[in-house]
Amino acid sequence: MSDNNRVIIFDTTLRDGEQSPGASMTRDEKLRVAKQLEKMRVDVIEAGFAIASPGDFESVKAIADSVKDSRVCSLSRALDADIDRAGEALANANAGRIHTFIATSPIHMEYKLQMTPDKVVEQAVHAVKRARNLIDDVEFSLEDASRSELDFMCRIIEQVIDAGARTINIPDTVGYAVPEEFGHTIGQLIQRIPNADKAIFSVHCHNDLGLAVANSLAAVSAGARQVECTINGLGERAGNASLEEIVMALRTRKDILGLETGIDTTQIVPASKLIASVTGFPVQPNKAIVGANAFAHESGIHQDGVLKHRETYEIMTAQDVGWNANRMVMGKHSGRAAFRSRLEELGTSFATDAELNSAFARFKELADKKHEIFDEDLVALVSDTRAEAANETFKLVSLSVTSQTGETPVATVTVNINGHEEQAEAAGSGPVDAAFKAIEAIAQSDAMLQLYSVNAITEGTDSQGEVTVRLEKSGRIVNGLGADTDIIIASAKAYIHALNMLHANVQKAHPQV
Ligand code: KIV
Ligand code: ZN
Repeated sequence: MSDNNRVIIFDTTLRDGEQSPGASMTRDEKLRVAKQLEKMRVDVIEAGFAIASPGDFESVKAIADSVKDSRVCSLSRALDADIDRAGEALANANAGRIHTFIATSPIHMEYKLQMTPDKVVEQAVHAVKRARNLIDDVEFSLEDASRSELDFMCRIIEQVIDAGARTINIPDTVGYAVPEEFGHTIGQLIQRIPNADKAIFSVHCHNDLGLAVANSLAAVSAGARQVECTINGLGERAGNASLEEIVMALRTRKDILGLETGIDTTQIVPASKLIASVTGFPVQPNKAIVGANAFAHESGIHQDGVLKHRETYEIMTAQDVGWNANRMVMGKHSGRAAFRSRLEELGTSFATDAELNSAFARFKELADKKHEIFDEDLVALVSDTRAEAANETFKLVSLSVTSQTGETPVATVTVNINGHEEQAEAAGSGPVDAAFKAIEAIAQSDAMLQLYSVNAITEGTDSQGEVTVRLEKSGRIVNGLGADTDIIIASAKAYIHALNMLHANVQKAHPQV
């Protein structure tokens, strides 16, 4: 099956991406992301790990129930309970897939699983058969494949294909492989396994050495026809292979690679912005394809070349990947219907009229402060409205800050905690520091601030600032987001959002631990 030239794009932003500390998403956020992935024509959406928690189950189910044009997949360990739970979550999917896995490297089998290789084969075959009783489409992954022995991989793969696995995924779980070696391994597996033609070979590369995309491309050159990847390269540790880089490399270098995907590339930048906004992980400016500078030509020589003939310095256009595609401007005269329809195009719909009305009221407030409202403003405004509407412990009531040359800044904050208001005043080394200290004086969370970042959402000094606050407490990491044209208020909102997330104290299982 691997002799055609179409590469299946399997997006795991909602599963492996979410395993990034602090990147957890709510069910509604995951649904919005899944809708955007569907719009981008991703072939397979790994929606989550259904058994991880009741919330994860609900998210996978909601995505399986509403996505129609992409296949929806749930991860499961090679355990009966995991497989059954995945099957349950996918029961209404138009096209579903169970993705089951077990580790196959000597180090994982001996120390993590404490199982013999024979037992691992037996459990893998049993898992695939059980999954096939629930669903037609089953993928099997050999965790830590890049450190597994070739002969053992051939043995287990042959047996799981016989048991009914249709996709065989070869992960570089710890980001250890280098391209030539990894491509060679994929080629060897396809050549040596007698029933290899009955399955599609897939790869899943982590970026610990910065080689995830290069390894994935080496693998497709050697015959793999599915690539597992994430938007913005989000994922455990250094992340996964980035979807936008894989897709654009295949498209731009079709002359050499001779392969194609079904992705609508104009949806890449909107997807990247959505992920950055819901996770609070901003995209570095020089990131390929989706970084703010990816198509900016600073130097005079480059600008001159591009103006004379674009292809002197550009190998693809900003429009190809969706820069500016969605920058329809709205303003204070835009009506409710236009507001709703633009948000629907951006992948957001409102469950109730009250939710729409509250977001529209905020839009009008923002339009009074800011002349032109861009898509990025709308996305931030909706996240903010939702965060405030949620049934949360802490709500920001008011904030006032005095800051002047030569004086220590002082903030006075009022926070509503479960229905009653408390006020505190604090001094700080700057206005944001003072505001955070005042909030802490009320909340007394004892959380450690791990990251504070501010991003201008659009251009100009009237831009909203989007603030990310990362807090850590007892090993748990959360990201809070806040947006406002006043960055001190945005910062306070982000801090309070993070406190609410810590307070929610969601417990979930990690698939690989
Ligand atoms: O990195 C990995 O090995 C994984 C598997 C569960 C596919 O994420
Ligand atoms: Zn992974």
